[in-house]
Amino acid sequence: MKTIDVTLRSGGKREIEVDENLTLMEALRDNGVDEVLALCGGCCSCATCHVILPENVFAALPAMSDDEDDLLDSSDHRTETSRLSCQVSVADLPATCSVSVAPED
Ligand code: FES
Repeated sequence: MKTIDVTLRSGGKREIEVDENLTLMEALRDNGVDEVLALCGGCCSCATCHVILPENVFAALPAMSDDEDDLLDSSDHRTETSRLSCQVSVADLPATCSVSVAPED
């Protein structure tokens, strides 16, 4: 299990314990973070699972695919450390980390 401190759009915080076998999107969804709509179910085609990561966490992840990069470009809220949470494995995250839900497009 890993611990993720989630910052919601409201600025509110949630601490969740998540299973390593999940994607970050699945972990957020399963813990009731409803702001992460994940409308495509993790197929990398909707961008409603957009999250913003700390710089060190972002830098340590495997590189994103061209599809993810293109989809993030469609967001008005993309940052230097944006990722689609359905494309991030919890296994690749540190034991504890923070994640912010990106503003809604
Ligand atoms: S759930 Fe649709 S792109 Fe991640």
